[in-house]
Amino acid sequence: MAHVKSFYLTTPIYYVNDAPHIGHAYTTVAGDVLTRWHRQRGESVWFLTGTDEHGQKVMRTAEQNNAAPQDWVDRLVAEAWKPNWSALNIANNDFIRTTEPRHTERVQKFLQSLKDSGHIYAGKYEGPYCVGCEEFKLPGDLIDADGEKLCPIHSKPVEIVNENNWFFKLSAFAQPLIDLYKNNPEACQPESARNEVLSFLEGGVSDLSISRSTFDWGIPVPWDTDQVVYVWFDALLNYATAVGLTDDPDSEGGKKFAQTWPADVHLVGKDILRFHAVIWPAMLMAAGLATPRKVFAHGWLLVGGEKMSKSKLTGIAPSDITDHFGVDAFRYYFLRAIPFGSDGSFSWEDMGARYTSELANDFGNLASRLAAMIEKYCGGVIPAVHHDTGLVEALTTTVATADKAMVALDFQTGIVATMDFCKKVNGYVTEKQPWILAKDPANKVELEEVLYNTAESLRALAVLLHPVMPATTEILWDSLGAQATLGPIGAQKVSEIAQWGQLPEGAIVTKTPVLFPRLEIKE
Ligand code: ME8
Ligand code: MG
Repeated sequence: MAHVKSFYLTTPIYYVNDAPHIGHAYTTVAGDVLTRWHRQRGESVWFLTGTDEHGQKVMRTAEQNNAAPQDWVDRLVAEAWKPNWSALNIANNDFIRTTEPRHTERVQKFLQSLKDSGHIYAGKYEGPYCVGCEEFKLPGDLIDADGEKLCPIHSKPVEIVNENNWFFKLSAFAQPLIDLYKNNPEACQPESARNEVLSFLEGGVSDLSISRSTFDWGIPVPWDTDQVVYVWFDALLNYATAVGLTDDPDSEGGKKFAQTWPADVHLVGKDILRFHAVIWPAMLMAAGLATPRKVFAHGWLLVGGEKMSKSKLTGIAPSDITDHFGVDAFRYYFLRAIPFGSDGSFSWEDMGARYTSELANDFGNLASRLAAMIEKYCGGVIPAVHHDTGLVEALTTTVATADKAMVALDFQTGIVATMDFCKKVNGYVTEKQPWILAKDPANKVELEEVLYNTAESLRALAVLLHPVMPATTEILWDSLGAQATLGPIGAQKVSEIAQWGQLPEGAIVTKTPVLFPRLEIKE
């Protein structure tokens, strides 16, 4: 067992210059849904998220708030970031902070080894820098506004950096990276992201300044403690330091590393694609380590056509939405509404419409009608097992489509397939009219057949939707009497969902609280 490779997924580690908004939640919820799906496939899973705490951006925000940087990040992590993830029901296995010794010590060891192997040299950097991106910019990256050079992402002036720094020989890896992405399209997705990375690499890559000397909020360069490690060089390493990078192979950390590395998916927004698809794999190549199996760059949540951002103060807090719609509807909405990889905007109207038609009417009502009918017509217990060929076949197709789509990070297709099955079950109930059948005792067998098939369909829907809406589906699971007879919903395997006839005769059905309550009118 110890040697089974885990499915290892990471999210970006977010800057703690402010509290999270729905853009951060979008990535982390997607990662949570995907890892829950893989767990239900029976795989061993490791899901990492965390916070990026060094660098000028965080340091300056702390200063503006009259706080020492460490106090500032400690407070935000404890009061905003961690509570936000637990409120959204994120089941991460680990949470890494870049100020933790387990990270800083391993970063120093890794850096020293790159220096010893000749990948690092002393040089001088002069050029534009965006503190919002924490990125050295090329003149061609910038937009010109009345003679002032602005970062295109943050719309803020760049600063000119002029320092003696340590450099990483990034240019040496341009060709190996081109080969990597040409030979292995899965390594960078979606296709548009891979093309962008390839054309960037083909345009030529310069070496990278990986230290800074004008401030001290960072990890000291081990052989030159007047310099701190460039925040991105520090931050990218979190994915590997968190699972034991540089530890002795026989130690606990070394074993963890062997079990998790390379990462299966680095989930990122397209704003930070180049860091993950160029700099990070080059760092790994320099150290002789395997490169990630996949970097997936999703699109942006937009506000007024621009990326929603902490720096621009356009962020919507997840709680603004969950207070109104609930956590599970939040988790559902963005993955359902926006193709993963494309940009999208949030609108109260669209979310309200989908909540009502898809969640409350199609799914929630089906569950409450079934529970009410089982109570009324079957004494509150599941009747004898029956099969409906149409439903059985539809379910088999649904599970296959959903599984293929979810593991390919095509959440929308996976969810739509599932909700189409839900519609089909509603159509089945409407067509069979159990409330009419119930009027004549001669129809008892047919009535029970319809109710069994509906209950069994809901059993499958609960499992299919569990990674997306863990709390609601657990309530449904319990109400179907499945918890008591089939065990925990999280232990149900994807490969077994389509096996018909699992809900046993006699399981006790209880009426659910309404899964998706009618919405209060929003002022
Ligand atoms: O870049 N739409 O942190 P960050 C969609 N610390 N996703 C969004 C988004 C939006 N409008 N805004 C943010 C950093 N995100 C670095 C990462 S990793 C080694 C270091 C999400 O706080 C998306 O995942 O700026 C994006 O890539 C990430 O938050 C950036 O978070
Ligand atoms: Mg950012």
